[in-house]
Amino acid sequence: MAALVADTLEKSFTTGTVRTDVLRGLSIRVDSGELTLVAGPSGCGKSTLLAILSGLLRPDAGRAIALGQDLGRLRARELEAFRLRHTGFVFQGFNLFPALDAVEQVALPLGYLGLSDAEARRRAIAALEEVGLGSRMRLRPRELSGGEKQRVAIARALAKEPQLLFADEPTSALDAGNGQIVIDTLHRIAHTHQATVLCVSHDPRLIAHADRVLAMEDGAILSDSRPNGAEGDSTA
Ligand SMILES: Nc1ncnc2c1ncn2[C@@H]1O[C@H](COP(=O)(O)OP(=O)(O)OP(=O)(O)O)[C@@H](O)[C@H]1O
Ligand SMILES: [Mg+2]
Repeated sequence: MAALVADTLEKSFTTGTVRTDVLRGLSIRVDSGELTLVAGPSGCGKSTLLAILSGLLRPDAGRAIALGQDLGRLRARELEAFRLRHTGFVFQGFNLFPALDAVEQVALPLGYLGLSDAEARRRAIAALEEVGLGSRMRLRPRELSGGEKQRVAIARALAKEPQLLFADEPTSALDAGNGQIVIDTLHRIAHTHQATVLCVSHDPRLIAHADRVLAMEDGAILSDSRPNGAEGDSTA
């Protein structure tokens, strides 16, 4: 069973009299244990697709199925619970709290999952060590580089031990070297945790670092490939 399924998704936005058709019958299946990259030009609908597959946004037509759950059948509260339990997010802008050190950034959301302070701290430290920040744990955002901040954000998502990890342009605020470290970190997480990592980006430099690349244009998938191995199969 695919961890994420988009089944003929349609989505358009209307602003005033202008209607933009963003997704036009888009279908994909995404498997666990690998990093799938959706690559395509600015405005082609990548963030919209990610928002629908993660249950943040409802499609106009078609279905989004995550871990076997048809998200369209869940009520708002159920969707909220699903997202809290199973999904982690990494964004372009890191979204860190200026006053908290790295351990606190990562431990804070674990409280919402009902973990004790001690357990949250233990998991936060383990996640920071996993992303290579074992020696930077007491530092606040202004004392960290962009790449380190993004790795704190990844640790924060990872510490929940989510089955689904979504990343929207996680490297676009970073230089090439740090971007590579961040994408490789996401790649490793997919493999070591058997997590489903879905990353969207317009940066073609990430392609070589993904297990599978879905090229998107004008609200549809143009190609499905495996840069370092066998051909992909969008119907698998
Ligand atoms: N809430 C909204 N209201 C109106 N239009 C929207 C809304 N969200 C997205 N759009 C439009 O939908 C189109 C696709 O947007 P989306 O953010 O999915 O693109 P993207 O591929 O992520 O682009 P980028 O690479 O620049 O992040 C754009 O033309 C955008 O203006
Ligand atoms: Mg976007």
